[in-house]
Amino acid sequence: MGSKVTVVGAGFYGSTTALRLAEYDIFETVVLTDIVEGKPEGLALDMNQSRSIEGFETKVIGATTTPEGAGYEATANSDVVVITAGLPRKPGMSRMDLIGVNAGIVRNVAENIAKHSPNAVIIVVSNPLDEMTALAQLATSFPHNRVMGQAGMLDTARFTHFVAEKLGVPVKSVSTLTLGSHGDTMVPVPSHCTVAGVPLSEKLSQVEIDELVDRTRNGGAEVVALLKTGSAYYAPSAAAARMAKAVIEDSGAIMPVCAWVDGEYGISGVYLGVQAQIGRSGVVKVVETKLTETELAALTVAAEAVRAKQSDVQAL
Ligand code: NAI
Ligand code: 2OP
Repeated sequence: MGSKVTVVGAGFYGSTTALRLAEYDIFETVVLTDIVEGKPEGLALDMNQSRSIEGFETKVIGATTTPEGAGYEATANSDVVVITAGLPRKPGMSRMDLIGVNAGIVRNVAENIAKHSPNAVIIVVSNPLDEMTALAQLATSFPHNRVMGQAGMLDTARFTHFVAEKLGVPVKSVSTLTLGSHGDTMVPVPSHCTVAGVPLSEKLSQVEIDELVDRTRNGGAEVVALLKTGSAYYAPSAAAARMAKAVIEDSGAIMPVCAWVDGEYGISGVYLGVQAQIGRSGVVKVVETKLTETELAALTVAAEAVRAKQSDVQAL
């Protein structure tokens, strides 16, 4: 039987992710769901009609669901599930302002998914990301390796773009890394950044690097301020789709993701942005990398900030 991926939430993030996944042409089925009646079915029909132009055979199935669980049969036995359901930010809002309402949505979605796809790998994208990932694991009771979140791929891609733009070089010559939370305690890691193999510190002054680090940390808010009605989705969907692809292809790729950390970096029992090897079982292993003292201290601060909020979400 061919592989199946479900994307929950047919808003901007979910619909762009579903289309990217379909265009990879590696899944038999992409299921797109939403609680807005007809929206996922309409988008699926539209995507399917692009198949002969773009040249992919993957079938997209749209399904309206209810919080009570109607419609979830269409998602049954998914190999991978991407959860994008929830409100996005408006200008001036922090990701944390979404925690109350999105916790209710993510808990409900995760419970329904667990019933119908007990063996799935879950990729959470709803914000606040680190806390919603922790909540999805609690609500599904899945092993920690099968529940991860998307943030680091996006934050790293933003950092890479800003460095490439600043230096006027191709993005493919730039390598950057971002760890920590998908929020105020994000930890861009300049000591791991290179341009054509040369350390970033030999290309830019400390002041210039600090400016790019700040812009990366505020990368999401910069887009929200311009859009005014929602948040980014092209780069975010590219990141989530690549993670789903790495799972289904059992690629073993090392990616910055939000994963359960249990001893690495001296940190335990918390979902946090780290590098991890991704495969068919989800997070195959967290990959520790050498950090400067300052970077390690910032990662520890991020872990404690997420830990405090993670215990709050259990009650939401
Ligand atoms: P959107 O408002 O365009 O779409 C959200 C969709 O979720 C809506 O269509 C809504 O009807 C649906 N929804 C709500 N409750 C649902 C439920 N119980 N079941 C199924 N669908 C449900 O928002 P957008 O732009 O797609 O963003 C989605 C989420 O992703 C937001 O929480 C946003 O903050 C987050 N996000 C996360 C990023 C990351 O890097 N982790 C980056 C960008 C956005
Ligand atoms: C982003 O980083 C808002 O989390 C969303 O674009």
